[in-house]
Amino acid sequence: MDTSLFESVDQYIGNLLGDEDAVLKGTLKSMKDAGIPGINVSANQGKFLQLLAKLCNAKKILEIGTLGGYSTIWLARALPADGQLITLELEQAYADVARQNIIKAGLDPVVDIKVGRAMDSLAALDAEDSGPFDMIFIDADKPPYTEYFEWALKLSRPGTLIVADNVIREGKVLDDNCDDERVSGVQRFNKALADNKQVTATIIQTVGTKEHDGMAIVVVK
Ligand SMILES: C[S@@+](CC[C@H](N)C(=O)[O-])C[C@H]1O[C@@H](n2cnc3c(N)ncnc32)[C@H](O)[C@@H]1O
Repeated sequence: MDTSLFESVDQYIGNLLGDEDAVLKGTLKSMKDAGIPGINVSANQGKFLQLLAKLCNAKKILEIGTLGGYSTIWLARALPADGQLITLELEQAYADVARQNIIKAGLDPVVDIKVGRAMDSLAALDAEDSGPFDMIFIDADKPPYTEYFEWALKLSRPGTLIVADNVIREGKVLDDNCDDERVSGVQRFNKALADNKQVTATIIQTVGTKEHDGMAIVVVK
């Protein structure tokens, strides 16, 4: 697929309407310097997540998959001063870089990074009655996406917005015989979403500076 047009249009949109400031650019640089893979959302996707958080008047956001804090910063900037964002990350080294970036963004009073397996952190959040969250962004390892979704539902209320990234994977979700566990993970999630009567959802395809993919947009009934 020739993706150069999608990339150019993504640049055009970013130049017109993007808010990727020095802190966000510095976050990407810090990740590169630390050898952290560039698997963050794109700038326009970050802005899109921020708009979604504003649209649902989010005061409490849960993010599963912090990496270097890039999407965290986009999301946390949508919060009011007394808002809260909890973000879950497996890798201590990534969380350390993210923490520095969040401090540089002035967002440390509202962002809490929990290091460990997301499944354990989610169980702990539930046990501590930390929910319900207004918005939940699922963007960690793909095989347990369905289980993350089940936890997200437990930590939700009617009206909670759940967003799950990377659920189309360049169209590989169409291949029932794909042996990539990331693809089978999101295929299982997409099916669970379709079968779940507690939510209403769609998936938007995403193109641009990142490869062709998709974000599931889910509202809890
Ligand atoms: C796609 S990246 C997140 C990107 C980030 N949301 C952004 O756009 O800036 C996925 C992250 O999930 C983390 N991760 C992978 N497996 C995990 C697990 N079992 N528990 C928690 N985090 C995990 C990875 O270390 C990685 O940082």
